[in-house]
Amino acid sequence: MYKLSDNHPDQSKQTGVVRQANSVGVGQTAEVHQAGRASHASHTSQASHTSHASQIGPANHTGAAGRRVYLDNSATTPQDYRVTEAMMAFMTETYGNPSSVHQFGRVARTAVEKARGQVADLIGATPEEIVFLSGGTEANNLAIQGVAHARANKGHHLITTAIEHHAVLDVMEDLAKNGYELTVLPVDSEGLVSVAEVQAAIRPDTILISVMHANNEIGSIQPIAEIGTLARENGVLFHVDAVQSLGKLPISVIDMNIDMLSVSGHKIYGPKGIGALYIRKGVKIKPMTLGGGQERNIRPGTENVAGIIGFGEACRLAAEGMGGAFAVELLRDKLLNGIVERISDVVVNGPLGDKRMPNNVNVSIKFVEGESLLLSLDMQGIAASSGSACTSGSLDPSHVLMAIGLPHEIAHGSLRLTLGKQTTEEDVDYVLEKLPPIVERLRAMSPLCDCAASQH
Ligand SMILES: Cc1ncc(COP(=O)(O)O)c(C=O)c1O
Repeated sequence: MYKLSDNHPDQSKQTGVVRQANSVGVGQTAEVHQAGRASHASHTSQASHTSHASQIGPANHTGAAGRRVYLDNSATTPQDYRVTEAMMAFMTETYGNPSSVHQFGRVARTAVEKARGQVADLIGATPEEIVFLSGGTEANNLAIQGVAHARANKGHHLITTAIEHHAVLDVMEDLAKNGYELTVLPVDSEGLVSVAEVQAAIRPDTILISVMHANNEIGSIQPIAEIGTLARENGVLFHVDAVQSLGKLPISVIDMNIDMLSVSGHKIYGPKGIGALYIRKGVKIKPMTLGGGQERNIRPGTENVAGIIGFGEACRLAAEGMGGAFAVELLRDKLLNGIVERISDVVVNGPLGDKRMPNNVNVSIKFVEGESLLLSLDMQGIAASSGSACTSGSLDPSHVLMAIGLPHEIAHGSLRLTLGKQTTEEDVDYVLEKLPPIVERLRAMSPLCDCAASQH
């Protein structure tokens, strides 16, 4: 089983780097698990950094605080040591501004352009088609707003799906309040959009279709190549949010007829706060920010050089490790089957087989409340998520679970476990050992449950 620390030339020399990588924490701010809370709090003292270094490792392990199993890799991933190593020089001695003409600047420029090539290679694009920006959210905003404003003279109709990330849906809805017309396509009970329905929605005034490649909550994989063909045949631009699929599923912007593609560094063992938008050569976009010539005037502002270098390296590593998806899938199946075998009244959310992301488990455990489940798992050192990571602070069921038709009470018991390349069989066994008694205890307290019959 591959571990993040594998292949490292000399682990013992990297203590400083390791501590830096780990001290950041691996959770998103909306998470209830310990890793998320660690990144939420601002730790300035050396002491607190050191203690997080021992707790939060790229490999899930047993430390003083007990076993820690990180199964929230769709929220964010731990940064690969090799990414941190590639970035180090650009956070210390190589600090030039890539726009400067002197040597310092030229070194930074060369490194940024190398990284641009590494990102482009992973999606079959050319380097000139890659615009660096702060992450998936900004990429989605720029793609949709940029095209809506640049093509306003051609039409005002936009198409998307009901299970997009909020960074797509909210932008679309905002445009709909400001003179654009929006069609939000439904999905089936597995979270899949129908190509025929996309076709039926296209009108003469349609300017943009935005469909995500893989869903962040239930892992459904959309028929992107078919929709791309349809969009191209109809002269409609096609944007794809590939934040969850990058590095895990093969992507070719050429073969899939994609005009714009959003990607993010922190979902592929790269740094947070860096991402890119692929914009096919010839596609016109109106910038959202003004004030400089960087990134071909499309995204002005001094580049996040270290972040870009780290993202490039993460893309290179992802390309190298694409074959590893199969090992993750086997562990995922063990986890999913193990949950269904050990706990009664479990509904699997999302498709099975090759239409599901290889690292995604999403189940609804009836008669249990998702937030309580997360807190109980967290107390056992298991980091999970209920519905979307970005909305788990909210008591409303996620829009994705609503869109696949789950009743509220079942949606509320949803649990998402997302594996990473650092996940081991021992991690899976640990979850399968801890989860059933937690469910049993929570059900025993639930007025809705006939608990005597609920476990098997
Ligand atoms: C599908 C999808 N799109 C966009 C984003 C936002 O990306 P970022 O965190 O880089 O802004 C996420 C993050 O969870 C996501 O899962």
